[in-house]
Amino acid sequence: MHSIIHNLPARVSLCLTPLLLSNTATMQSFSAPSVSLLLLPLPLLLLVLFSSLLLLLFLQWRHDPVDKRLPPGSMGWPYIGETLKHYTENPNSFFSIRQKRYGDIFKTHILGCPCVIISSPEAARIVLVTRAHLFKPTYPPSKEKMIGPEALFFQQGAHHARLKKLVQASLLPSAIRESVSEIEQIVLKLLPTWENSTVTTLQEMKRYAFDVAMISAFGDGWCLEMEGIKNLYQCLEKGYNSMPLDLPGTPFRKAMKARKLLNETLRRLIEKRRESRKQGGGLLGALLGAKDHKLSHLSDSEIADNIIGVIFAAHDTTASVLTWVLKYLHDNGELLEAVMKEQEGIQRRIVEGNRELTWDDTRHMPLTSRVIQETLRTASILSFTFREAVEDVEFEGYIIPKGWKVLPLFRSIHHCADFFPQPEKFDPSRFEVPPRPNTYMPFGIGVHSCPGSELAKLEMLVLLHHLTTTYRWKVVGDEDGIQYGPFPVPKRGLPLKVTPRNKKAI
Ligand code: HEM
Ligand SMILES: *[C@@H]1O[C@H](CO)[C@@H](O)[C@H](O)[C@H]1NC(C)=O
Ligand SMILES: *[C@@H]1O[C@H](CO)[C@@H](O)[C@H](O)[C@H]1NC(C)=O
Repeated sequence: MHSIIHNLPARVSLCLTPLLLSNTATMQSFSAPSVSLLLLPLPLLLLVLFSSLLLLLFLQWRHDPVDKRLPPGSMGWPYIGETLKHYTENPNSFFSIRQKRYGDIFKTHILGCPCVIISSPEAARIVLVTRAHLFKPTYPPSKEKMIGPEALFFQQGAHHARLKKLVQASLLPSAIRESVSEIEQIVLKLLPTWENSTVTTLQEMKRYAFDVAMISAFGDGWCLEMEGIKNLYQCLEKGYNSMPLDLPGTPFRKAMKARKLLNETLRRLIEKRRESRKQGGGLLGALLGAKDHKLSHLSDSEIADNIIGVIFAAHDTTASVLTWVLKYLHDNGELLEAVMKEQEGIQRRIVEGNRELTWDDTRHMPLTSRVIQETLRTASILSFTFREAVEDVEFEGYIIPKGWKVLPLFRSIHHCADFFPQPEKFDPSRFEVPPRPNTYMPFGIGVHSCPGSELAKLEMLVLLHHLTTTYRWKVVGDEDGIQYGPFPVPKRGLPLKVTPRNKKAI
């Protein structure tokens, strides 16, 4: 009932458009009931049409501030909503078809929830930055339970800000520059296992990004609990991406069991660190340190949820982006040559200095960095994010009712030709000039933006340095295509054949 009333003004204006466009044709085809109108002299007829148009416009204008308009769009069938279509279509085409039809702000139904989809940079900025307090983060309850309800993603307001500061502190450049050499050690152990064999890039990158995430969570130094955490995590992940069916034997049930065990393992680890009076490094160290502060006391389960949350946010995302980087470099031979050259230059300096790769080296890789920037844009692995209106919000002339989901579409903004000419083309040189403000947000913007962006870029640079200077890679098979798991990645996780490079004398 509600939505029908709200829809009315939009319908009225829709009905008007054909009348205005095909004025003469309509007049000629007027049939019997309209004959009385036709008998009027033409100027009078035009006057009648014109004044009824004015009346309609007036009614609509008067209507607006009182009733407030929902954004345009189709809500599909009640309950089922547009959900079915959403599952059968690739989500990106689902959105882009509707964006073409309705514009940058439209409504739809996804998974039974009424949603407003947003794909202009200005509107996204309002939701995520300037009026972020009116749009809270929202996740399906099953996912929230699995990661842990006290994790950073799910928090709001002052509590979120306080927790974010703690998490951010351990991920700032000043904190992560010390871990370059540990990250490099992981790379130097991993890459030789690829030599002369066919590997699934996504799987390998997940292994890598997971190990880096463990360092960022716990600091360096391996302990007994880590192996256990790794195994339990894999179990958790399988369940996370499956249907939330809490029945015996389902991946969901197994994942919830793994989550419980993770809880216990982490608690043991926290206990141990506290007893030994060594906070240790990483996020855990930072959170334990905060525990000693009276002002920012964190409970054990709050610490556990945030550790699990950060590992979760860190590894699949980075692994998917790295997989795309290898795909794009493979498909763009000249670019790969240029990246190799840049990395060889760095390598020469390292050899000359008889030293290891450093943070400063990674700050002198402009081309490789642009390749990463362009990959983040083109692949846009986080196509969008979810928020929920905490009250009825007036927004760009529309009303977004309380409880509706709001989805800023990062991907549509990154693929808009107005901001990124020839958006489908992979062209890192476009980042030689900075993108227009608010048009590039692979790590989000505003209070919930990604605290791990610098670490993600760093680990990609370190891996690319060694990969391009030591190996060559060839994609196995020639299917171009995308799979979703849940992030978009090349088909079959990009199988690669990796061989040693014929080294020129350095
Ligand atoms: C290339 C890899 C990555 C991408 C593309 C990425 C992207 C994002 C985006 C878009 C958000 C904001 C989501 C929103 O506004 O709803 C986010 C949040 C977050 N990311 Fe990342 N991320 C990456 C890697 C990482 C890493 C390596 C870490 C940690 C070490 C991390 C930790 C987090 C956390 C904790 C949040 C939640 C922040 C909050 O709610 O305040 N991410 N990420
Ligand atoms: C891989 O193949 C190359 C060339 O055939 C060979 O030189 C190298 O030793 C091989 N590496 C491994 C680890 O088998
Ligand atoms: C983890 O432990 C806390 C108690 O400290 C509990 O409240 C929470 O429900 C546990 N989580 C899981 C998934 O068992």
